[in-house]
Amino acid sequence: MARYKIAILISGRGSNMAALIEACRDESFPAEVALVLSNRPEAPGLEIAKAAHIPTQVIEHGDFDSREAFDAAMTESLAASGVRLICLAGFMRLLSAEFCQRWRDSLINIHPSLLPAFKGLHVHERMLETGVRIAGCTVHFVRPEMDEGPILVQAAVPIAADDTPKTLAARILVQEHRIYPLAVRLIAEGRARTAGGMVAIDNYGLPEQILINPPLE
Ligand code: GAR
Repeated sequence: MARYKIAILISGRGSNMAALIEACRDESFPAEVALVLSNRPEAPGLEIAKAAHIPTQVIEHGDFDSREAFDAAMTESLAASGVRLICLAGFMRLLSAEFCQRWRDSLINIHPSLLPAFKGLHVHERMLETGVRIAGCTVHFVRPEMDEGPILVQAAVPIAADDTPKTLAARILVQEHRIYPLAVRLIAEGRARTAGGMVAIDNYGLPEQILINPPLE
């Protein structure tokens, strides 16, 4: 069966992108990466994608007069590549309402907190300042408001007494790299659909692995 074509949008390091590329290397994984798109030519993730022989493209937001014009250029390129799902992976630009509507339920994002808590930037610092005991990460469908939208997968990550923003970020990142491929697989297998602001997942049993919901299979 044809694999589900995905695009990955990055702005920087691209470690989540690399985790998705790695998952797609397995022929039995139901998705393939058709395009990696960056808004920054110097994003280190671009080199990782090129080394994996994935088509890459740079569309610099500074070349456009408005957010809408930049987003329209991305839509053109994404549509031309035939992708069915767009994965934001450290893509640090807010997207226009038009773009979110055009790709509604075909656009997902990963964020390093248990949403809806700790949206936005400097998440790890803010979690430590607030004193929460459980951190985590979330993959969700994108809506126009920042870090908003129906939740696909979450993983919980305990916070240690001696954590710094750096150590906490590293521990959460390990789980990000597990849940992003899981979320893509659920969509590519046609098992996840939005319903009433939430995501319903077919054939999803009770969690066996308490810290990832839904569990890895
Ligand atoms: C990741 O931790 C991701 O969750 C976060 O940016 C980092 C990108 O790292 N995204 C957000 O904060 C989105 N609001 P990566 O480039 O190594 O994947």
